[in-house]
Amino acid sequence: MNDGGLLAQIERLKRQKKAIILSHFYQRPEIQDIADYVGDSFGLSQQAAQTDADVIVFCGVRFMAEVAAILSPGKIVLLPESEAGCPMADMADAESLRSLKKQYPEAAVVSYVNTSAEVKAESDVCCTSANVLKVVNSMPQRQIIFVPDRNMGQFVAARTEKEIILWQGYCYVHDHLGADDVLRAKQAHAEALVMVHPECSPAVAEIADYVTGTTGMLKLARTESANTFIVGTEIGLEYALKKAAPGKDFIFSNPDLSCFNMKLTTLAKVADSLEKLGPQVSVPAHVAARARLALERMLTFY
Ligand code: 13P
Ligand code: SF4
Repeated sequence: MNDGGLLAQIERLKRQKKAIILSHFYQRPEIQDIADYVGDSFGLSQQAAQTDADVIVFCGVRFMAEVAAILSPGKIVLLPESEAGCPMADMADAESLRSLKKQYPEAAVVSYVNTSAEVKAESDVCCTSANVLKVVNSMPQRQIIFVPDRNMGQFVAARTEKEIILWQGYCYVHDHLGADDVLRAKQAHAEALVMVHPECSPAVAEIADYVTGTTGMLKLARTESANTFIVGTEIGLEYALKKAAPGKDFIFSNPDLSCFNMKLTTLAKVADSLEKLGPQVSVPAHVAARARLALERMLTFY
């Protein structure tokens, strides 16, 4: 079926099944276009908690759909491509985290939302790139176990009084961006502002003007007077940046920064998923109950 036919089918099924489509900024443009809401991990969590739809179609990766299932119990949560995982989230498991907690009994566990439901259940609070510093600084404990992104953990460690115990996970996409890529782009565009995601390495963060999540970047694109931005994040954000600030230039210093998993979702898979009401994502009730506490605590920070 061509795209026009798929779009009509998705629209019809959405109405029929009382569904809402949520999309992350890293999804393909045609997926962002059919979504009722396009956002960062924080905004998507808020939407998932608030919606009164019967079915949530999550165009993103598995941990995001799990968050929706935890925050909206009783709703059907669909992940159109069941293989869409997050390799960084897979770098942390609940058993290893329990061992680390025994090693640091005084520490609080702050887990980046890019984690499994089981890891969230072992955490005191979750965070996203939009609120990580606020969340860490709000904890009464002096020591913080930060799971799983070592780059984001180092970003926080450089800006807080807390002692950060790092987990050695990383995002293969953002970690691939080299300081040399950014410096080359800076040489070619001396007037440009450099904004990079906190999942990038400390060497990259050090030479950036701003280190911020995807929503932070969109805000900078709209509000800064600069006309050219060197961007250090997944290539999918280009679509939203161009919409947010038409006429401005966005230079992706390394065009290889594409998340394979985020690109697995297609219009055909969304249509198929709505038709079959599957694949569904669910979280066992005893895990969800504990993970929900960490997520709800996160939602109080922005
Ligand atoms: P944010 O959109 O929250 O900045 O997250 C980035 C990311 O890598 C999601 O997988
Ligand atoms: Fe995971 Fe990185 Fe892909 Fe985000 S961009 S889903 S953190 S691998």
